Amino acid sequence: MMADRIPTPVLMDVDTGVDDAMALALAWTTPQIELVGVTTVAGNVTLDQATTNTLRVLNTIGATDLPVYRGMNRPLVRDHFDAAHFHGNDGLGGAKLPDRDRSVEAMTAPEFIVQSARNYQGSLTLCFVGPLTNLAVALSLAPDLPQLVDRVVIMGGAFQVPGNATPTAEFNIAVDPEAADQIARSNFDVTWIGLDVTHSTKLYSEEWKQMSDAVSGGTKIVRDVCRQAFVDRAEGSMHLHDPLAVGVVLDQSLVEVERAPVQVDTSVRTTAGATRMMKSAARPDQNVAIKVDSRRFRQMFGRLLNVPIDDRE
Ligand code: RIB
Ligand code: CA
Repeated sequence: MMADRIPTPVLMDVDTGVDDAMALALAWTTPQIELVGVTTVAGNVTLDQATTNTLRVLNTIGATDLPVYRGMNRPLVRDHFDAAHFHGNDGLGGAKLPDRDRSVEAMTAPEFIVQSARNYQGSLTLCFVGPLTNLAVALSLAPDLPQLVDRVVIMGGAFQVPGNATPTAEFNIAVDPEAADQIARSNFDVTWIGLDVTHSTKLYSEEWKQMSDAVSGGTKIVRDVCRQAFVDRAEGSMHLHDPLAVGVVLDQSLVEVERAPVQVDTSVRTTAGATRMMKSAARPDQNVAIKVDSRRFRQMFGRLLNVPIDDRE
């Protein structure tokens, strides 16, 4: 737990979507994280939409001066496909968040990632919750990047469980397998937060329905972006995929990891984007989350965002 430490500098890369919005709110709300900037990437929705959504979310939570940098508008090699079927065509579940006449910075996302790593001299944590395209490009710009950052926490992968974009691949990896493979081969200190653990960390509709409409900031984000799922689609729960990655930035002890080389399927077969731990390989071991204390994470989520979380796992 980082309770008494100085704030950790964190750069978040997002494809703002519903759970990205909640992850941004969680990271901004906690004093243990010093958000240094946000980079955007094509994923759940187009790059333009993800960037607009990110600015709207930051405006809503009061992060009106937090710089935003546009990244890659398509995967390294393959055509982009989105997840609008889940996040809504607007990517925010229909939430009407206030616009602000603020624009993105002139620098591109990969350049900002490299610049920030150099500026923070080894103390920066990267939290990536969308396709890994920007990180792969940043690594090409600066091959020494793994030595320049402290940790990389990635929401991505499905190592010992089925996928959600295809039967074998999790969405963030399925969109850009080549980018993910470059990260898996790298010497970053990576912790992969895959569906293996995020499928246990849910927000339940009964909890959401207890929330008042008269809320603001991060609480308003949760209330507004989940409405479409819990009301229009009458879903019983929502996976807190991206918020768990932020939780692990805050407290790595939330998850139990296995260390192994990670392989990403970059074939043209239907298994493209599949991720697995290998017995041995000519690539470094990385951390793969295999278990999570979902009750403790849900309590953290509820406490920091003022959401009525009960005692369920
Ligand atoms: O598979 C879940 C991931 O894909 C989350 O990051 C969600 O926002 C989507 O990008
Ligand atoms: Ca995401």
